[in-house]
Amino acid sequence: MDSIGIIGAMDEEVKELQKLMKNTRVRTIATMDFYEGSINDKNVVVVRSGIGKVNAAICTQILIDNFNVRCIINTGIAGSLDAKINIGDIVLSSDTIQHDVDVSAFGHELGKIPRMESSIFVADSDMVSKGKDICQKVNPDTNVYVGRILSGDQFIQDKEKKDWLVSNFKGMCVEMEGASIAHVAALNNIPFLIIRAISDKADGSAQMDYYQFETLAIERTVKLLVELIPSL
Ligand code: ADE
Repeated sequence: MDSIGIIGAMDEEVKELQKLMKNTRVRTIATMDFYEGSINDKNVVVVRSGIGKVNAAICTQILIDNFNVRCIINTGIAGSLDAKINIGDIVLSSDTIQHDVDVSAFGHELGKIPRMESSIFVADSDMVSKGKDICQKVNPDTNVYVGRILSGDQFIQDKEKKDWLVSNFKGMCVEMEGASIAHVAALNNIPFLIIRAISDKADGSAQMDYYQFETLAIERTVKLLVELIPSL
């Protein structure tokens, strides 16, 4: 019996999904609570990884080793790196890069992990296209984009750093987990999709009221997931 693994970094990002689950049981590994059960009659495992690349990577490998997941979805928030992408919009990963990898001292391109075939992890095209179609259907008033997602162990809130990220990596948005989840999924040959609702402009400019945004973002991503899960 296999499952769909769903990872969120923070409680707020997974608790609404956990409320929708049926026949739930909880297994705790490495302090992370893995909620096993079903949504829309599909087996799912929903877990809060904690923030950052290391927590997310550990969580992903545990999901793969212990829960027989056939694909992995990461849901959460991100900062926009593109002027056309606004707060409340949704970005789905085409691919992902870890922007904080820098071995340029040895002549490697920024983001390149030496001695790996690739450091750009490509999302599953079927999950991306289903995600996009379903998002447009269930959230008709929300813009949805498909593009590169950058991850690093840094919260970006500085215009100069943002410009540096855009010119070096050409990402659509930036967050702190997606590319490490993608990295682990790719090494294990498991398809993945990152879904991110935009919470800020990654430059320290005015943000939407956090609680107002949180409710809105969760509503949108939960709507998308509830329809996407049975299609996978
Ligand atoms: N998650 C949401 N906004 C972010 C930002 N600006 N930088 C990194 N992670 C984020």
